[in-house]
Amino acid sequence: MAKTLDLERILHRQGFGTRKMCRILIVNDEVTVNGEPCDDPDAKFVLDDTLQFTVQGTAWQYREHSYLMMHKPAHYECTHKTQFHPTLYTLLPSPLVERGVQCIGRLDEDTTGLILLSDDGQFIHKVSSPKHHVPKVYEVTCKHPLSAADIDHLLAGVKLIDEEETIAALAATLLTETVLHLTLAEGKYHQVKRMVAAMGNRVTALKRIKIGQLSLPDTLAAGEWRWLTAEDLIAVQS
Ligand code: URA
Repeated sequence: MAKTLDLERILHRQGFGTRKMCRILIVNDEVTVNGEPCDDPDAKFVLDDTLQFTVQGTAWQYREHSYLMMHKPAHYECTHKTQFHPTLYTLLPSPLVERGVQCIGRLDEDTTGLILLSDDGQFIHKVSSPKHHVPKVYEVTCKHPLSAADIDHLLAGVKLIDEEETIAALAATLLTETVLHLTLAEGKYHQVKRMVAAMGNRVTALKRIKIGQLSLPDTLAAGEWRWLTAEDLIAVQS
């Protein structure tokens, strides 16, 4: 049987504040549902993805869980508590932050590119857990030219400080003398920078361009985000 819920709880679960705040929005005529004004906080609606509502003029679709991608700009941190730079979460509408959307894995403050966010714990675990080996591709710009021997070294395995085992890239392709595409199965702390440093070189720019089979779209500018489509969700996990 279709699950129904009252409007006050729907808005609360979708991130529009406490139940009391949601009730006030509704009775103050700030909410429409499926194109019709609704000032009854107890009115019940079927919970499915066809449920459309507006809150203070902004259109929203009901989503049991949120799945999104962002093009992370440089100089943003993937943390909730800002330390030295603004957090990525300031680039999202507040209902998404309120409902617990979080970054899946972290990129360094100076790293740019594709980052996924969700409030679905199972999905977060699946994409971030080392057990699932979701490959990630980085475009890495190095200070010094790279040789064919460096590429072989990355593929054969590099010994990192404080790691027992050597870590090998799944793929490494030179684009220019100093730029390579590096595919990794793990997401260890500063992994790309440490692998490049272990070869006596230094990363000067780092951009993540792909997670699983999902590429950062050219149309998504730095600082922008969009919902993941059903195809995107499959691509991430393949
Ligand atoms: N590896 C790094 O060194 N930094 C990142 O942000 C991601 C991977």
